[in-house]
Amino acid sequence: MTKPPSTPNRTGRKIGQKVKKGKLKASSRRWLERHINDPYVQRAKLEGYRARAAFKLLEIDDKHQILKGARRIIDLGSAPGSWSQIAAKVTNSTDSDIRVAAIDFLEMDALPGVHFLQMDFLQDEAPRLLMEALGGAPDLVMSDMAAPTTGHKRTDHLRTMQLCEVAAHFAIEVLAEGGHFLAKTFQGGTENELLTLLKQNFRQVVHVKPGASRAESVEMFLLAKGFKGRVREEAEAEG
Ligand SMILES: C[S@@+](CC[C@H](N)C(=O)[O-])C[C@H]1O[C@@H](n2cnc3c(N)ncnc32)[C@H](O)[C@@H]1O
Repeated sequence: MTKPPSTPNRTGRKIGQKVKKGKLKASSRRWLERHINDPYVQRAKLEGYRARAAFKLLEIDDKHQILKGARRIIDLGSAPGSWSQIAAKVTNSTDSDIRVAAIDFLEMDALPGVHFLQMDFLQDEAPRLLMEALGGAPDLVMSDMAAPTTGHKRTDHLRTMQLCEVAAHFAIEVLAEGGHFLAKTFQGGTENELLTLLKQNFRQVVHVKPGASRAESVEMFLLAKGFKGRVREEAEAEG
């Protein structure tokens, strides 16, 4: 079970640190204070994860067992790489036998066993390149993609929802039967049409809010478990 970090922390950093008033804008100072005092940030450092986001995936997995037995994994919006670190570990991926393909338009430092593509997932050739790199159907397509913020909340939500939708269509195209799809979404943001599509194609569809996802954030995750496979779909289309 992934537990929330306990105190006292072992990073040597004190909780409740303040950042001196100086050149930083008040909002940047508040962000920095929250970041350095965040127990998940400290625990990520301690356990060698590149981001606190690792604990969101681990918590979801504790409850829903989506990583167990996964042979191949696709990580959409992977930088800086904590989900890819977990994916490489559970699939025993190595540079000579790649089991994880990851994509982000930001740079990501290399990770053993992870084939990283630095490009926009919305580009036409991205799905093909990911699949070529992976060399077989994934058992998990996971997306932590969030659109860059514009400062206009509604626009940001809509863009992230679009990413979630494109990721869902991709997952339905490529997943191995029995596979899972996990994607970042927003509270109340998932369109009914997308939910219906997922319910048609997966045995179970749920929304999850892991403890590591900040309570004040509207971020949630959409989890679709047990892909029913394309054979049935193709047979229905024919029949
Ligand atoms: C919250 S971060 C991911 C953190 C990551 N899961 C980890 O554990 O380190 C979201 C990422 O999605 C990426 N992203 C957003 N839109 C994207 C797109 N269209 N194509 C590729 N990456 C995208 C961003 O650049 C950002 O690095």
